[in-house]
Amino acid sequence: MSYDAHFRVWRGDDDGGELVDYTVEVNEGEVILDIIHRLQATQAGDLAVRWNCKAGKCGSCSAEVNGKPRLMCMNRMSTYAEDETVTVTPLRGFPVTKDLVTNVTYNYEKARQIPAFAPPAGVAPGEYRMQQIDVERSQEFRKCIECFLCQNTCHVSRDHEENKEAFAGPRFFIRAAELDMHPLDARDDRANFARDSQGLGMCNITKCCTDVCPEHIKITDNAIIPMKERVVDRKYDPVRWLGKTITRRKD
Ligand code: SF4
Ligand code: F3S
Ligand code: FES
Repeated sequence: MSYDAHFRVWRGDDDGGELVDYTVEVNEGEVILDIIHRLQATQAGDLAVRWNCKAGKCGSCSAEVNGKPRLMCMNRMSTYAEDETVTVTPLRGFPVTKDLVTNVTYNYEKARQIPAFAPPAGVAPGEYRMQQIDVERSQEFRKCIECFLCQNTCHVSRDHEENKEAFAGPRFFIRAAELDMHPLDARDDRANFARDSQGLGMCNITKCCTDVCPEHIKITDNAIIPMKERVVDRKYDPVRWLGKTITRRKD
């Protein structure tokens, strides 16, 4: 069964813009992205929207629907009443390129800053061995599709552009945690890197990132909190403290 829905879509660029009203046909089983595509095909040929897979796996179609961060291709029209106005706006946490497309360069810059996986010396690729339990622990973090909904939602950077330089954000805390928990990663300073260079301390565990993750990654409980505990353990570990003090005395 079809009906006409009332949509309000943000149109503009980084110089400014406005919400524009549209009436668009909706068919049974459709998702927000279907409606945006129909709008583009029939009424607004120059509407910019980023998407690729339409299967919740490429992470491209992130936007805010009625103010909530969502993947447009996984957001069913049946979750909205037929007479409800559906408002679609670009991710608020990043600068707008055009219409629903945002510039997510910030995320790639933060990704580049993380030192790569460092394999142990003397072990060739193909000779790596690790316990299944360690594989499973990091598997959760590998599900990330880089939709950046968590990065968009975290209030530390969403409301404070000035924090972005020091704050890497939840997506990159899970990358740091994954490497920190990796038994074959030869760097032992991942937690310190998160504290000193990624702004881990700025996260006050509001869990908003976890709430919006379409892959249901337990970002806060399984990555951020364990990383915070490691930082504290290492800083206040009496054995480490004694070791460091003795070393210093020798110097
Ligand atoms: Fe998206 Fe989840 Fe990855 Fe964040 S952690 S970028 S919300 S998939
Ligand atoms: Fe932000 Fe997630 Fe921490 S929303 S404050 S990174 S728990
Ligand atoms: Fe790929 Fe939506 S189009 S996640």
